[in-house]
Amino acid sequence: MIVNDQQYRTIWPNEALGTNAKTVSVIDQTKLPHIFEVAQIDSLQQMISAIKTMQVRGAPLIGAAAAYGVALAMQQDAGDSHLQDAATKLIQSRPTAVNLRWAVQRMLKVLLPLTESSRIQAAWNEAAIICDEDVLLNQAIGEHGLSLIKPLYTKQSRTINILTHCNAGWLATVDYGTALAPVYAAHNAGIAVRVWVGETRPRNQGASLTAWELAQHGVPHTVISDNAGGHIMQQGEVDMVIVGADRVTGTGDVCNKIGTYLKALAAFDHAIPFYAAVPSPTIDWGITDGLKEIEIEERDAREVAWMSGRLANGEIAEVNILPAGTKVANPAFDVTPARLITGIITEHGVYAPHQLNTMQR
Ligand code: MRU
Repeated sequence: MIVNDQQYRTIWPNEALGTNAKTVSVIDQTKLPHIFEVAQIDSLQQMISAIKTMQVRGAPLIGAAAAYGVALAMQQDAGDSHLQDAATKLIQSRPTAVNLRWAVQRMLKVLLPLTESSRIQAAWNEAAIICDEDVLLNQAIGEHGLSLIKPLYTKQSRTINILTHCNAGWLATVDYGTALAPVYAAHNAGIAVRVWVGETRPRNQGASLTAWELAQHGVPHTVISDNAGGHIMQQGEVDMVIVGADRVTGTGDVCNKIGTYLKALAAFDHAIPFYAAVPSPTIDWGITDGLKEIEIEERDAREVAWMSGRLANGEIAEVNILPAGTKVANPAFDVTPARLITGIITEHGVYAPHQLNTMQR
């Protein structure tokens, strides 16, 4: 990704000056869109905190962050019990996105057979490979998604309007994004696209993050309140919906940011194609019923009760929007049943949900 004319990924390792130890840098997503800041992470504990507080977020990125969390843990103590303990704590740091468990299990598979002395280097190497692979998977998703947008553009000869929810762009991955990878591929190919960005309460990942990264890349976009999605579909202003996912069942149920299900219902009612862009580490082949089998993360009531933003005087502040003592529920994800999904865009191609299990593994 290009930010202020400089090439970035969302996460990268650094050699710490004067020691053999490494640290990890991340773009701090709690500060965007108002402040672009890179945070340094020096320990397993700091990485767990960065995942829980959502300095890093988005399913593929928290997988990559967890892999680097294991590397930081090995640097502290490469013994078996510390490795197992780090793995358990990382997996528990956020329950819904399966990429986190996938990445930690992959690290365990590589590290457990090794001697303690060789684990540190192997852990840094494997985490870097996971990141490089994420970039390649997302590029492939971009190309397959482009093959859906291109014919529509040729047929319509006008701007193609794509609605997305939450942030499934560069910021949610190591680079390129999943749902936004086809958008970037189309924009780069000279196809006129415009993105409707749902604000995505309560944390506003659409308004704060998706709008920011689309602007960095020069892609035309318009932010709408979450409640406006159905209306603009009714008005014929949406050609397709593309969202990301935190976990997809082998049967094509899609778990993604809360509010995705409502968008899918509205799209279904208007026969608007609804796609989920999903790299293979997001598919949980072991489950078949998303509603029954996926744990939905319940987050702090504070996310609903308080909103953060920039005041007219430039200061960043939080304001409370609820009457004192109001009860709050804050489920962070929902499940869209396969019957509402037109296709799942993966690195191997686009699959109807019921054919996802024919995908190469
Ligand atoms: O709670 P978040 O911000 O981590 O949720 C992110 C999403 O729901 C994304 O849509 C999903 O992880 C796909 S990211 C490529």
